[in-house]
Amino acid sequence: MKVLTVVGARPQFIKAWLVSSALRKDHEEFLLHTGQHYDYEMSRTFFDTLELPEPDRDLEVGSGSHGQQTGAILVGVEQTIAEVRPDLVLVYGDTNSTLAGALGAVKLDVPVAHIEAGLRSRDLSMPEEVNRVCTDHISGSLLAPTQVAMENLASEGLGHRSHLVGDVMYEAMDVLVSQLPEMGEKLRGWGVGPDYILVTIHRPENTDDADSLRAIAEAMAALPLPVLLPMHPRTSEASKRAQIEWKGVTVIEPLNHLEMLALEREASLVVTDSGGVQKEAYRWGIPLVTIRGTTEWLETLGDERNYLSAPDVEAIKSYVEKALSAGHRDPPAVLSEGVANRIVEVVTEVHSP
Ligand code: UD1
Repeated sequence: MKVLTVVGARPQFIKAWLVSSALRKDHEEFLLHTGQHYDYEMSRTFFDTLELPEPDRDLEVGSGSHGQQTGAILVGVEQTIAEVRPDLVLVYGDTNSTLAGALGAVKLDVPVAHIEAGLRSRDLSMPEEVNRVCTDHISGSLLAPTQVAMENLASEGLGHRSHLVGDVMYEAMDVLVSQLPEMGEKLRGWGVGPDYILVTIHRPENTDDADSLRAIAEAMAALPLPVLLPMHPRTSEASKRAQIEWKGVTVIEPLNHLEMLALEREASLVVTDSGGVQKEAYRWGIPLVTIRGTTEWLETLGDERNYLSAPDVEAIKSYVEKALSAGHRDPPAVLSEGVANRIVEVVTEVHSP
């Protein structure tokens, strides 16, 4: 088969890594980077660190409103499909690149396989939820990471197109665990001791509302351990706009994936609003506070492993206290073995011409 893979945002580079390498054993792949993420720390570093194949084309769409970004990717995907003539388009996750990739393909009658299908936060005010629901409903095969995702798809009448393949992000963690760098020296350089709280914040509902962002910054300054915050560009711009200084917090540039995994694993606690970081902390058994009203990763909520908190100073402080006293847990059982190979097997069986 000739497969067109569409990626564009940081977590998609990680998810595509193992699948691309499994796919290329028997099939031809054209890797399309939409350019949704374009800063060195948000894009290039993942290709270098993971030795991901070079993109065959970069649409360089950059930032913009949802309409501009999704529309520009759609046009680029359509042109690329007309030239490349793939048998299948592969899309990952829930970003604007995912939806535009899937939409561009189905409009040209090219089947789509959606990796990480079936996740639901049931909150349609999140752009990612809209992207997930729409992408699942137009894709020909739905590759679900968990049983919960399978059940979500079945409840929407999509069970006949769904396949439980496991979680390729967890498989990537398993492969990378032996390569994680020693971060002691960097931590000392940042003035942070061995006990610290690792924080990431980038979701529009937290960053684009100045009151929420200010409350998060204020809560971070009041936590009982040093706080280390690799800052997403969206958060950095929003902080400048709202004149939020993150006093008492060690703010650093976004990290490459290996450094991020290493810091997550050694953290006393993770505070985040990211889907991926939430899952990684859960997988390591690190206590977790998620600053969101809902999560699409329902399995993380059991057993007091993940506390959902509103962006409110007192709520965050109190959940951090609870999570710290709950402490580290045994890693949960997850389906992480052979995921990339299983994905390739399923799409080969379903979509080979
Ligand atoms: C996107 C995804 C989100 C995913 C996240 C991972 C959507 C709707 N959201 O959110 O699901 O969790 O990526 O990081 O697709 N920016 C830069 N440099 C970059 C990238 C972004 O400066 O390399 C800035 C721009 O000002 C941009 C803002 O960050 O407007 C937000 O970027 P965008 O791609 O719109 O969404 P993310 O917040 O990154």
